[in-house]
Amino acid sequence: MATAVYPGSFDPVTLGHQDIIERSSKIMEKVIVGVLRNNSKSPLFSVKERVNMLLDVTSHLPNVEVRAFDGLLVDFVRQCRGDVIIRGLRAITDFEYELQLSQTNRVIAPEVDTIFLTTNLKYSYLSSSIVKEIAMYHGDISAFLHPDIAHKVREKMEA
Ligand code: PNS
Repeated sequence: MATAVYPGSFDPVTLGHQDIIERSSKIMEKVIVGVLRNNSKSPLFSVKERVNMLLDVTSHLPNVEVRAFDGLLVDFVRQCRGDVIIRGLRAITDFEYELQLSQTNRVIAPEVDTIFLTTNLKYSYLSSSIVKEIAMYHGDISAFLHPDIAHKVREKMEA
C-alpha cells in the first residue's frame, strides 16, 4: 500500500477528476491531491478556491488530502513522502504529453514512478477548459461538474 500524489490545476475539479480520485483512494493507502499554485494558464479560480472545492467534493473519502504546491512536482512528491504520481489518461491525445511528463519526472527523481488510470468512458472527452468555455457562453455544465462546483463556476462567470 502506497501514498499517491494526484497533481493538477483543477480549475475547476470536474467529475472526471473526482472519478480518478475516488478510484485511486480505493487502491492506495493515502492519496494527496496536489493543486498547482503558480499556474501559467491564468486560472479562473485562485488556488485557495480550487483547494476548497476539492476539499468539499472529497470530504467523504477519509484517506484523501488536498494540498497546494508550487515548484517541481517531484519535489512536492518527496515532501509528501509520496511513492507514486497518479495521472488520468483520457484519450490517445493525452499520451504524448503524459509520457513526456512522466519520463522527465523519472529522470529528475528516479524513485518516483507514475501510474496512469484510464478515465471512465463517461468522462473521456471532459476537460476543465471545455467546461469553462461552455460556461462562458452560458451553456449547461451540469453534466460535467458536481452541482456545488457548477454553481461556483456560474457565479464566477457572472462576477
Ligand atoms: O491538470 P494539468 O494542468 O494537466 O496538470 C499539469 C501538472 C500540474 C501535473 C504539471 O504542469 C506539473 O507537474 N507542474 C509542476 C512543475 C513541474 O514539475 N514541471 C516539470 C514536469 S516535466
